[in-house]
Amino acid sequence: MSTPRPLIAGNWKMNGLAASLGEVRALIGALEDRSPGCRVAICPPATLLERLACSATGSALEVGGQDCRAETTGAFTGDVSAEMLRDCGANLVILGHSERRAGYGESNSVVASKVEAALMAGLEPIVCVGESLTEREAGTALSVVTSQVRGSLPAVLAGRIFAVAYEPVWAIGTGLTPTIEQIEEMHRAIRETLTQMFGEAGRVPPILYGGSVKPSNASEILGACEVGGALVGGASLKAVDFLGIISAA
Ligand code: 13P
Repeated sequence: MSTPRPLIAGNWKMNGLAASLGEVRALIGALEDRSPGCRVAICPPATLLERLACSATGSALEVGGQDCRAETTGAFTGDVSAEMLRDCGANLVILGHSERRAGYGESNSVVASKVEAALMAGLEPIVCVGESLTEREAGTALSVVTSQVRGSLPAVLAGRIFAVAYEPVWAIGTGLTPTIEQIEEMHRAIRETLTQMFGEAGRVPPILYGGSVKPSNASEILGACEVGGALVGGASLKAVDFLGIISAA
């Protein structure tokens, strides 16, 4: 089993209008010039997904959704299914982001059913886990995160292509980051959990780090043991910043 290339994924969250596609065109142009050694993805809001995917056709840029519903169709006003994301041109989807777990009460089992739906639709899930500041301070970060991994990753992932993203809630959008030792400790614990769950196949999925990744800290974070890429929020909105992170991979 070969190690996959690092994945640098941008999560635009609820940011971006048609004008933001200019940033995507700048990013695609720069990727053509540089041919980076990592995979690069942007996960825009659903309203931009199809236009962004059209711009990215034929380029190295991959496109993802930020969430999906577990059901395939039905009376779920405002929601989108995994198949709809795929239909718009996405090949990835972020699932279980802490903003969805906290804001929409998404439990591990809800996340696991969304992961199954994503696989059925042919999407590669990026499954997010991470502890709150209270949990970190209480010394329960490792147990909280490893139980999120166990609960959010269904058995059908065995041998499939997916990624886990470790995003400490207290590091998201705050400018704070864990120490490299804390990142490595958590990524090792996640890797061990993955191998307990999936055997040797658990060594393959990249474990991304997310939370205040910027051009200035990217190379140190991406160089840490068991860090297989980054999930980037704010610094993915401008091509120049995102490229600074991509160059560090
Ligand atoms: P920031 O990079 O803005 O801290 O956001 C991280 C994140 O939540 C990515 O999913």
